[in-house]
Amino acid sequence: MLPGTDRIKLRSVILVAIITGLLFTPISGFAENSCRTCHGQLEGELAAPVQAMAQNDVHASRGFSCEACHGGDPTSEDPEVSMSAQKGFLGVPSARQIPEICARCHAQPEFMRQYNVGLATDQYEKYWTSRHGIALKAGSNEAATCIDCHGSHGVLPANNPQSPVWPLNVPKTCRRCHEDEALMSRHNLPANTYKEYSQGVHGVALLEKNDIGAPACNDCHGNHGATPPGFEDVAQVCRGCHPANSENFLTSPHKEAFDAAGIKECLACHSNHLILTPQDDWLGVEGEHSCGQCHTAGEKGYQTAVNIRQRVDSLRNREVEARFLVHEAERRGIEVSQAQDYLKLARDALLLARTMMHTVDETKVGAVVDSGLVAADEAAASGRQGIADFRFRSLGLGVASILITILIIALWLKLRQIEKK
Ligand code: HEC
Ligand code: HEC
Ligand code: HEC
Ligand code: HEC
Ligand code: HEC
Ligand code: HEC
Ligand code: HEC
Ligand code: HEC
Ligand code: HEC
Repeated sequence: MLPGTDRIKLRSVILVAIITGLLFTPISGFAENSCRTCHGQLEGELAAPVQAMAQNDVHASRGFSCEACHGGDPTSEDPEVSMSAQKGFLGVPSARQIPEICARCHAQPEFMRQYNVGLATDQYEKYWTSRHGIALKAGSNEAATCIDCHGSHGVLPANNPQSPVWPLNVPKTCRRCHEDEALMSRHNLPANTYKEYSQGVHGVALLEKNDIGAPACNDCHGNHGATPPGFEDVAQVCRGCHPANSENFLTSPHKEAFDAAGIKECLACHSNHLILTPQDDWLGVEGEHSCGQCHTAGEKGYQTAVNIRQRVDSLRNREVEARFLVHEAERRGIEVSQAQDYLKLARDALLLARTMMHTVDETKVGAVVDSGLVAADEAAASGRQGIADFRFRSLGLGVASILITILIIALWLKLRQIEKK
């Protein structure tokens, strides 16, 4: 039961609601839904859901209203009836109730098919396998539920660029909690995830260059489940987008050694969120990113690291030298298209060597480097030839102009001789 003054307030609200309802019936057609009509007259938090649902809300667009989630009876204008437990009114749902509420429709394939044949109906089932779902089930009310990622009033389709789960918006959606120091420390998690992600290559590509091909948080962690479809472990997700590096890694001696030691494949060298642009000096044994982190002198891995670094350096240096020579030839107006083709081959070999290095197989990397060296040498040779041709032509031109000058002088002298006669 409501206290006396609240009852009076409620009565006046009802009166206003009925009058406005009657007034607007022909225009809005909303009056038959008492929840919307009455709440539309209220203020603040009580009215906000009506406004939010009037703007592109995916549920409202399909004719669903407040009672779809909150229960209650939208045909009664008496709040004591429309918002009564007998009519199934739930009030404001708790975090624990939310997945069940959404699942009443979203986990029913036959029901959902009537509205959208292509929409998956596995979110509820998968949600319970995620860390959020597991924590919720265990009694935490702080882990994300459906509405923390999708909203509750004003829900948009996932492919709407305004949606909180649109790729460019996902990191912000997760950030709200994952950057909250107090919240994260209660769950023994770091609060720097967003910061690291946004400074790494993927975050820069997505957030600064709007490159939707770069992974947002959900591409690696899955939308609803513990991992994205097809992956047993989050640490394997890199394989999906970097197949060449992954194939090389999986055939390397590191795969078995890392599994045995519980080292997470790519993460051991690249980390998970603060992924930096790799450099050639990560090869070799010096520096914080190098193979020297794990290998010490005397080990086969150590010697291989030194050798691979030398090979890659030699190709890089020869490519730089060849590029300089070709540039110099081009600057002198020599035709260099063939030399450019060789240069491209040398550069491709260098990129391939950086990928192939994931096999940590000196012979395989060596073969790629050798093919690159051949191309770089060809390019350098054409560049040198071009410069030599230019010198020769310049020399030819010089000799020719001297000869012409001599000829002109001789002619002039001859003319004067004739004139004198
Ligand atoms: C005639 C007016 C009126 C009608 C009809 C009405 N409400 Fe309300 N509703 C209110 C008022 C006033 C409050 C705030 C006072 C209260 O908590 O009871 C409220 C509160 C709520 C709350 C918050 C409850 C809480 O515990 O804070 C929800 C959710 C809600 N209404 C949903 C509905 C739904 C769904 C319907 C339709 C089935 C509906 N309302 C019908 C006036 C109405
Ligand atoms: C898709 C499900 C869904 C629909 C549809 C829906 N709500 Fe809610 N509503 C929720 C959930 C979940 C919460 C609790 C979490 C939150 O606050 O967002 C909530 C909270 C509320 C609250 C508490 C105040 C607040 O914002 O926390 C009110 C009042 C309310 N809803 C009214 C309405 C009204 C009125 C409508 C219809 C115009 C409506 N809701 C439609 C799911 C829904
Ligand atoms: C009464 C049934 C019902 C309930 C309850 C319901 N939904 Fe929906 N929802 C639908 C239907 C039907 C669609 C599909 C509409 C369409 O595609 O046009 C939909 C669409 C969506 C979409 C957009 C999907 C897409 O990308 O196209 C999201 C997100 C969503 N609902 C989230 C929720 C959440 C979160 C809850 C719980 C708070 C919830 N829904 C509760 C029926 C419901
Ligand atoms: C941690 C954030 C998060 C939570 C929690 C979450 N979702 Fe999602 N949801 C997403 C993301 C991200 C997408 C996919 C966006 C895309 O396709 O790019 C998505 C997509 C959807 C879609 C569109 C169809 C699909 O599966 O791709 C529906 C419907 C949906 N979610 C409903 C729900 C329901 C119901 C719950 C609760 C049981 C829920 N979501 C919980 C983040 C979340
Ligand atoms: C409402 C707050 C909230 C939001 C929003 C949220 N999370 Fe969480 N998340 C949590 C909490 C709390 C935990 C810790 C759960 C536990 O105690 O195990 C968690 C745990 C996780 C974990 C498990 C970490 C581990 O190894 O234990 C991952 C991964 C994760 N969240 C990813 C995401 C992603 C991705 C998004 C956005 C799509 C997101 N979260 C949005 C609150 C949130
Ligand atoms: C490129 C893939 C990728 C992206 C993008 C990504 N993560 Fe992760 N994340 C991982 C991997 C891999 C782990 C480590 C899992 C393990 O140790 O098994 C991880 C771990 C986590 C953890 C557990 C704590 C930790 O740091 O080990 C949380 C929480 C988390 N990620 C949240 C997020 C959030 C939030 C975003 C977006 C801002 C995000 N992740 C983006 C791959 C990614
Ligand atoms: C959804 C696809 C996707 C996933 C998953 C993914 N990446 Fe990437 N990655 C990209 C794209 C796209 C770029 C290029 C970004 C740019 O424009 O700089 C990139 C760039 C990189 C680079 C920098 C390459 C360079 O030459 O600068 C590294 C290193 C990298 N990713 C490692 C990883 C690791 C490690 C994982 C797993 C933890 C991973 N990626 C998961 C798509 C992905
Ligand atoms: C043993 C350490 C190590 C492991 C494990 C490792 N990487 Fe690398 N990665 C490197 C080094 C070192 C470079 C830089 C090579 C260079 O620039 O000369 C690199 C370069 C890269 C590049 C940029 C060059 C290119 O191929 O485009 C990508 C992308 C990459 N790694 C992805 C991955 C992925 C995906 C995995 C897991 C399957 C992985 N790496 C595992 C050390 C490692
Ligand atoms: C995270 C630690 C770690 C890093 C970084 C690392 N390795 Fe290893 N490596 C191992 C482990 C563990 C083994 C297996 C034990 C052993 O043979 O030393 C191994 C084995 C090897 C082997 C096979 C040795 C044999 O006996 O057959 C080679 C070759 C190798 N590593 C090369 C490299 C190169 C090159 C790099 C740098 C690009 C590198 N490693 C970086 C941990 C690492």
